[in-house]
Amino acid sequence: MKFKVSVVGAGNVGATTAQRIYEKGHSDVVLVDIVEDMPQGKALDLLESGPVIGTDAKIIGSNSYDETSNSDVVVITAGIARKPGMSRDDLLLTNMKIVGSVTEEIAKRSPNAILVIVSNPLDAMVQHAYKISGFPKERVVGMAGILDTARFRSFLAAELNVSVTNVSAYVLGGHGDSMVPLIGSTSVGGVPVSSLIKPHRLEEIVQRTRDGGAEIVSLLKTGSAYYAPSAASAQMVESILLDKKEILPCAAYLEGEYGINNLYAGVPIKLGSSGVEEIIQVDLTEEESIALKNSADSVQELIEIMEKNA
Ligand code: NAI
Ligand code: 2OP
Repeated sequence: MKFKVSVVGAGNVGATTAQRIYEKGHSDVVLVDIVEDMPQGKALDLLESGPVIGTDAKIIGSNSYDETSNSDVVVITAGIARKPGMSRDDLLLTNMKIVGSVTEEIAKRSPNAILVIVSNPLDAMVQHAYKISGFPKERVVGMAGILDTARFRSFLAAELNVSVTNVSAYVLGGHGDSMVPLIGSTSVGGVPVSSLIKPHRLEEIVQRTRDGGAEIVSLLKTGSAYYAPSAASAQMVESILLDKKEILPCAAYLEGEYGINNLYAGVPIKLGSSGVEEIIQVDLTEEESIALKNSADSVQELIEIMEKNA
């Protein structure tokens, strides 16, 4: 049986996410955007790669939502992206309107879908999609922690000249300047990272991780990162569709876990066919707990701005 995945927003992240999912072959894919003919063009181009890749999956592009009906998973990447000098929070009110209208259209046509939100500022957008969709919290989840953690793991692996697969780490909290790379639970080949890298150098790597999105924006100049973000989004989609139950850092709705209430924040979750199947509590140092709380407070501020502008 083939799954059905819709990706809304056929820009850099949306198109590369659609490509990654299509190339796996387990899902038919619908790519939606407001720009006339563009999602159709990208989908046709991808479809024509099928004989080379060896997939019989179908992929179509559309400017309407009717083709998305009864999707199993919907990835929402619609919105504007950062340009040099902009923070993710600068996107708030524009993307709130876009994500709100997209979520309404999707929820009507795919009432049983799991929503994976990508648009920024991520934690505020996923909270907005949760509210607008009326879906249970398990079926609305945000992508950011996998990306931030992948950046952290890449930098640590390069520093120590080891395989990325040997670096085990988590970056929790909001997807913003206050994100929380956990040093206490980061290990390389089972060895605590703090015994392998000196504190001042570790702090530089943590800061580079926090600035990871801005570093790419300043290099690209016309948009933000999309290869690593699409890899992270596709990993979430696959863990849901194939019920892999991977433990992944994602934005999930917290009701008391980690001392955070009624708010989305990045935490380790078990991601399977029901969506967010469990929130995993990892031990935090006191400093990490305070940093996570501060990060949640920054997300709460954005939620309050959205509420005033609703
Ligand atoms: P992009 O500008 O390449 O693509 C966005 C697409 O959304 C455009 O094609 C645009 O036409 C479309 N769009 C705008 N309004 C729409 C609507 N109402 N309905 C359907 N489509 C609509 O941007 P990119 O690089 O793909 O990024 C997309 C979003 O994802 C941005 O908000 C960006 O900040 C965010 N992002 C989040 C990440 C995360 O870790 N959560 C990582 C990377 C990007
Ligand atoms: C990133 O971290 C733009 O949020 C996006 O690259």
